[in-house]
Amino acid sequence: MAANRTRLLIVAGVAVLVAAAGLAFSVQRSRLAARLVSTPAESTPADPTLVKFAHQIAAPVYASNCARCHGADMKGSQVLGAPSLVDNVWLYDQGRVSDIERTILYGVRSGHAKSHNITDMPAVGRLGVLNRGEIYQVVQYVLQISHRPADAAMAEKGKALFKDKGNCFDCHAPDGTGNPDYGSADLTANVWTYGGDTASLFKSIRDGRHGKMDAYIDKLSPTQIRALALDIYSRSHKVQQVAAR
Ligand code: HEC
Ligand code: HEC
Repeated sequence: MAANRTRLLIVAGVAVLVAAAGLAFSVQRSRLAARLVSTPAESTPADPTLVKFAHQIAAPVYASNCARCHGADMKGSQVLGAPSLVDNVWLYDQGRVSDIERTILYGVRSGHAKSHNITDMPAVGRLGVLNRGEIYQVVQYVLQISHRPADAAMAEKGKALFKDKGNCFDCHAPDGTGNPDYGSADLTANVWTYGGDTASLFKSIRDGRHGKMDAYIDKLSPTQIRALALDIYSRSHKVQQVAAR
C-alpha cells in the first residue's frame, strides 16, 4: 500500500515537473517571438539570441513553404527562376531584413496591391522590338559586361542596341547594373536568376520571364515571416550564430 502511494507520488511529481518545464519553454518561446517582431528589423541581426531563435522557427516553415522553389539549400532554381537567397545579390532593394520581409509579405507580381510589380521584362523578341540577329548581338554584349568570353564585334553592335532600339537601359540602367526598385537583374554581376549561358540569355530576352511569387501575409504569422527574413539575412550575410541564452 505504502509503496504504491510512494510510486503514485513520484509519478505525479514527475508530471508536474514536466508540465512546468513545458510551460517555461513555451513562455520563453513566446517571449522571444514577441522580441523578434518588436525589435526594429535592422537591429535583429546584432542579437545572436534572436538569430538563433529565428533559425529554429524558420527552418520548418521554409521547408514546407519555400524549398520547392528556392531549394532545400536556398540556392534557388534557374529552371523555376527562383533566385538564390544565400548569395547576397538582391533583385529587390538592398537585401536588408526589412527588404526581405517585404518581399515575403507581399510577393512579386502576386496581385497583392503592395507586391513588387513596377515593371515586367518585356518579350523583346516576340514583340518584334529586336529581331533574332539583334538579340544575339545583345546577348554578346551582356556576356561582355558580365565579364565572360564574348564576340567583340557583335558585342559592339549589341551595346548600341542596349542603349537605343532595345530600350534595355531603361530598366537595367545604362551600365547594366539594374534597378533594385524594378527587380531588374544586375546584368554585370554574373549571378543569374535564369542562367547566363547564350541559350538562357537568348530566351530571357526573346520571351521575357515574368517571374512571380505569392504574398505570404495571409499564409504565415508575423513571427514566422520575420523569422524567415532574419534567417535568410543571416545566412546571406554570414551573421555569427551562437547558442540561445
Ligand atoms: C512558386 C515558387 C516560389 C515559392 C514557393 C517561393 N518563392 Fe520566393 N521567389 C520566387 C521567384 C520566381 C522570385 C523572383 C521573382 C522575380 O523574378 O522577380 C522570388 C523571389 C524571392 C525573394 C527576393 C530575392 C531578391 O533577390 O530580392 C525572396 C527574399 C524570396 N523569394 C523568399 C521566399 C520565401 C521566404 C519563400 C517561402 C515563404 C518563398 N520565397 C517562396 C519563387 C518562389
Ligand atoms: C520594362 C523593363 C525592362 C526592359 C525594357 C528590359 N528588361 Fe530585362 N529584365 C527586367 C526585369 C524586371 C527582369 C527580371 C525578370 C523576372 O524575374 O521575371 C529582367 C531580366 C532580364 C534578364 C534575365 C537575368 C537573369 O538573372 O537571368 C536578362 C538577360 C535581361 N533582362 C536582359 C535584357 C535586355 C538585353 C534588354 C533589352 C533588349 C532588357 N532586358 C530589357 C526588366 C526589363
